[in-house]
Amino acid sequence: MGAQSLLSYGTTTTHLLSLKQLTTASLFDSSTPSFLRITRFKSRQVNLASNKNALRTQVLREVSPQKVYNVSADKHLNLESRRKKLAVFVSGGGSNFKAIHAAMLDGSILGDVVVLVTNKTGCGGAAYARENGIPILQFPKTKESEGLSADDLVFALRKYDVDFILLAGYLKLIPVELVRQYPKRILNIHPSLLPAFGGKGYYGLKVHKAVIASGARYSGPTIHFVDEEYDTGRILAQRAVSVGAFDTPEELAARVLHEEHLLYVDVVKALCEDRVIWRDDGVPLIQSKEDPKLCT
Ligand code: GRF
Repeated sequence: MGAQSLLSYGTTTTHLLSLKQLTTASLFDSSTPSFLRITRFKSRQVNLASNKNALRTQVLREVSPQKVYNVSADKHLNLESRRKKLAVFVSGGGSNFKAIHAAMLDGSILGDVVVLVTNKTGCGGAAYARENGIPILQFPKTKESEGLSADDLVFALRKYDVDFILLAGYLKLIPVELVRQYPKRILNIHPSLLPAFGGKGYYGLKVHKAVIASGARYSGPTIHFVDEEYDTGRILAQRAVSVGAFDTPEELAARVLHEEHLLYVDVVKALCEDRVIWRDDGVPLIQSKEDPKLCT
């Protein structure tokens, strides 16, 4: 079975999409599979009040004296406020993905997860996507199962008209093809205060064990843009969490994870409202919704 075939998981046919489906069907016409139409239907839950705010923020930014430009100020510039289309990448339980998706459903994030990408189609994040009618792409291919190549993945994400990519516990390195196609538009969340305790090999409980062993009194999540290495892209947001004197790695992980959910939702909210801006020296900032001159 090749990448052009509909993939199945377990006993039921899933929403794993083949390249052929993506090539031959417009995502929103009558030939679109029903689960994709469901996604579109949900996208109509537009929060008009927040939309107005986003528009006002956009206008205020235009007159802002700061020398900044919007993250969308490339060929994707779109001054009219519209819901952003997001691809989320997961390998595990997907609690960050679930927190973001819940905030989209309750209208506090002006965006929709239009596709989930995973290397593990049996993981909790993929199960949640299936339950919520979100199509799933498998990347990369493994010995045991079929998946997309890097070029096919780029092609598929373009078909979905993806604005931003959110890595949420995705354990594979993002291919350079994707990084180049989505400059300043891929975010990752890491469970330590980068640049400390990051890089290849720092994942899961290993991060928290290393933090505790170092004697650091603070840890916490970092959200950063993704470049071609592990955990080295520009830092966008962080939140400090105290390390208790007798914390186990599991206890620290749970406290950091709780903060991750809050931080990722706040950041994605800002991203979808075009409130992520770039300082002259290349550091990304988040503008306050209430006062665009205030940035963090
Ligand atoms: C989080 O701790 C995140 O920081 C890291 O992977 C974990 C994913 O957890 N990159 P979940 O799958 O979102 O629950």
